[in-house]
Amino acid sequence: MTNDQKSRKMLIGGQWVEALDGATFDTADPATEEVLATVPAAGSTDVDRAVNAAREAFEPGSAWRGLPPAARGRIIHRIGDLILEHAEELALLESRDNGKPVFIASLADIPMAADTFHYMSGWATKIEGNTIPMSSAAPGRFLSFTQREPIGVVGQIVPWNYPLLMAAWKLAPALAAGCTIVLKPAEQTPLTALRLGELIQEAGVPDGVVNIITGDGATGAALVAHPGVDKIAFTGSTEVGKEIIRASADNVKKVTLELGGKSPNVIYADADLERAIAKSAEAIFFNQGETCFAGSRLYVERPVHDEVVAGLKAAAEQLTVGKGTEPTTMMGPLVSAEQLDRVMGYVTSGVAEGATLVTGGERLGDEGHFMAPTIFTDTKPSMRIVAEEIFGPVLVVLPFDTLDEIVAIEKDNPYGLAAGVFTRDIDKAFRTASAIRAGTVFVNTWNAVDSALPFGGYKQSGWGRELGHAVLDNYLETKSIITEFS
Ligand code: NAI
Ligand code: MG
Repeated sequence: MTNDQKSRKMLIGGQWVEALDGATFDTADPATEEVLATVPAAGSTDVDRAVNAAREAFEPGSAWRGLPPAARGRIIHRIGDLILEHAEELALLESRDNGKPVFIASLADIPMAADTFHYMSGWATKIEGNTIPMSSAAPGRFLSFTQREPIGVVGQIVPWNYPLLMAAWKLAPALAAGCTIVLKPAEQTPLTALRLGELIQEAGVPDGVVNIITGDGATGAALVAHPGVDKIAFTGSTEVGKEIIRASADNVKKVTLELGGKSPNVIYADADLERAIAKSAEAIFFNQGETCFAGSRLYVERPVHDEVVAGLKAAAEQLTVGKGTEPTTMMGPLVSAEQLDRVMGYVTSGVAEGATLVTGGERLGDEGHFMAPTIFTDTKPSMRIVAEEIFGPVLVVLPFDTLDEIVAIEKDNPYGLAAGVFTRDIDKAFRTASAIRAGTVFVNTWNAVDSALPFGGYKQSGWGRELGHAVLDNYLETKSIITEFS
């Protein structure tokens, strides 16, 4: 290992380095509030170094650009293998840095991160153009075709909720497309991305192709403003997403965004209620509710409202909240004191606006950022807890009688990331799936994500799609080449 546990460096041009001015910040364990490690705080000169390294690695004739697609694919595949070889270590590191249960990191984050590299590695050899007949001249006069080329130097900024997995979602397709990258993990959770940097080197990725710089929003903003960056791919809050759109205007950077959500989940009276309750609890409480597509706004058909709420209350109260490193823990602490304050602020506002607190609503213990799984009923669409993304373990429940009512409320939902519907009636299922404007609709399930399935948002939930072959469009340009025969 290049880095020891306590004092980490960042990766620029194949070297592990400190910030030029020596600035650092701490990353802490959200369960104990103990400092886990000190990492460099990259300033604008460091961002400049990283972008220059990525530019150099992108030059025609570089080691990376000279690799045949199959060789590129094999390297990307090897990154996935190395993640699996270090799965236990990575799961523990993720749990300690983010707070999430180690069993969730072992079952979801780490294997899915590996799968993202494995899946994307196959695309390296399948980036193709088309031969296109032209009608502006007699047939046979022209030969025209398209060729797809890597977009260039990509700045990638990721959040703290699934740190390694979000880094994988960004890096793997950009590498498959042949881009070079400056990745900035979130300041709350930089450690697995830095460890991934070591594995990326071990896999044989040439120096400068992947640069990983640590820092906060100011570092991210410097990356977005840098004229040497061709494209920004961002996952995080809608607020910062809007700032990125504005800040990228100067050199007309390409931008893709995966932003927030307030995803509606609909339970009809004819659903398998046991299943609907279990999955709907998972939809909101999985990963402490810190999931962009959490099922945070639940509509329950009136005849089964009370039964469903009782079932959800029981499910919430059965969740073991504790340190992520303890094997029985099902819900860990929130990521930071700031996030706990923000979520508790929503609880206070829900009570003040007259919603009924069915369960939870309080902080647990006085060490670490723990809170109880929380459910509100008697809510109205105008309440802040119903209208805004909370990004914590807080569910709001609304009764409904008709799909039209839901559609009318959802019209004002600024987000469109995901939705869910529980019913045994196929007609209701597809009618509901079609009526809600969202990038993903779960039917009788939730939290089902796959490397092969496009994922992304309608409305203010984002621009573009992650995963699947759709994500390659984020990292490729299209060139038309037209030849006229004499
Ligand atoms: P954030 O959007 O501020 O942070 C996400 C990433 O963007 C981090 O790497 C951060 O350093 C970077 N960043 C911050 N300001 C930036 C700027 N001006 N330019 C470029 N990069 C910048 O999210 P934050 O503050 O951690 O959480 C606030 C709220 O955002 C949460 O409560 C939640 O509602 C939402 N959020 C949504 C996520 C999602 O996956 N949809 C992920 C994280 C947060
Ligand atoms: Mg922030």
